[in-house]
Amino acid sequence: MKSYRIALIPGDGIGREVVPAAVNVLKAAARECTLDFCEFGWGCEYYLHTGRMMPDDGLDQLRPHDAILLGAIGLGAIGIGSGGARSDGRAGVPDHVSLRDLLLRIRFGFDLYVNLRPVEILPGLEPPLGGKTADDIHMLFIRENTEGEYCGVGGRFKRGTPDEFAVQQSIFTRKGVERILRYAFEQARARPRKRLASATKSNAMQYTMVLWDEVLREVAAEYPDVRVSNYHVDALAARMITQPESLDVVVASNLFADILTDLGGALQGSLGLAASANLNPSAGLRPNGRLGPPMFEPVHGSAPDIAGRGIANPIAAIWTSALMMEHLGEPAAAARIMSALKAVTGDARVRTPDLGGKNTTEEFAAAVVHAM
Ligand code: NAD
Ligand code: IPM
Ligand code: MN
Repeated sequence: MKSYRIALIPGDGIGREVVPAAVNVLKAAARECTLDFCEFGWGCEYYLHTGRMMPDDGLDQLRPHDAILLGAIGLGAIGIGSGGARSDGRAGVPDHVSLRDLLLRIRFGFDLYVNLRPVEILPGLEPPLGGKTADDIHMLFIRENTEGEYCGVGGRFKRGTPDEFAVQQSIFTRKGVERILRYAFEQARARPRKRLASATKSNAMQYTMVLWDEVLREVAAEYPDVRVSNYHVDALAARMITQPESLDVVVASNLFADILTDLGGALQGSLGLAASANLNPSAGLRPNGRLGPPMFEPVHGSAPDIAGRGIANPIAAIWTSALMMEHLGEPAAAARIMSALKAVTGDARVRTPDLGGKNTTEEFAAAVVHAM
């Protein structure tokens, strides 16, 4: 029987609630293989004790695993300086430090250039859009995950003076754009509708997005069977609401897809439903093997407003776990998770408060295990 080593990084806030729920489901689902879990207590709490989000050799510690399952990172400390105090006065870690030094370090360090984010409606759930049904919403977002607006190049100058300024660069490489577009075309080609929408903003961004559009045209020529549309990202956001049925695979830069996929979560009915996988599809082709394991994480964050109450929706984490099993090459376990999940959402008796119910995270996960 095959055995997989899974690194767990529950992280902060509700990450520590939804990851154990997903692990219970994974344990029940893994029948043709065994899963060997190893938990890493990294995150903001760890930072407050050590001054680091993860150890210096954190990537080396993760490397031998087959996959990483991450909950959420961050204490929700928006808009505070590097001092580390939260707006409510409790000790914290600024978001731009916590996310850069853990989440983005893993995505970039292991060159996980694809962030796959499905947006679909589970049985028993209605999209919150009037006039649209579950059949209208079947999107697959392909997010560029290692460059673009997130490259982290820039600086702050003349700090504290009236002439202070900040520079934040975007970097789009031909290689980076081409590989994400190619992956998106492959995904579109494999789906029944074979449609691809690309998010651009080349009307206002004369360099990066014009390069993106040019590479799109070039790669499109290799995929005559895929119907391509190029939308400005603002119009695409509106289209997700007004004509979601016209969207199939959507490819976008790091920041654009980040924003669009929270909208996707809202379209699904809750941010607690949106799943994601960080992948390096060319890892197998590297002469020296892969840089590191793929990472699976719900789209949502640590939800400080509900953390600690045991009421977070674990669906995103459970769905994410199904993506993990699928990518590990265990389709039966993945299908088992998804059909149990759908059975529970379909009969509508067990719901967490974000979907109007009264059940806890644990109760929902137990129902999925029971359905299995
Ligand atoms: P968030 O996703 O944590 O929360 C936004 C809203 O959605 C909140 O009202 C929250 O209660 C709700 N929500 C999110 N997940 C839910 C779930 N599973 N069940 C029920 N409700 C849920 O976004 P935010 O408030 O902007 O960010 C909070 C912190 O999380 C910040 O530090 C942010 O940087 C971080 N963050 C981390 C990740 C990650 O680690 N992958 C992703 C997004 C945000
Ligand atoms: C996500 C998150 C992260 C991102 C943040 C927390 C850095 O919002 O995974 O969508 O922007 O990638
Ligand atoms: Mn996001």
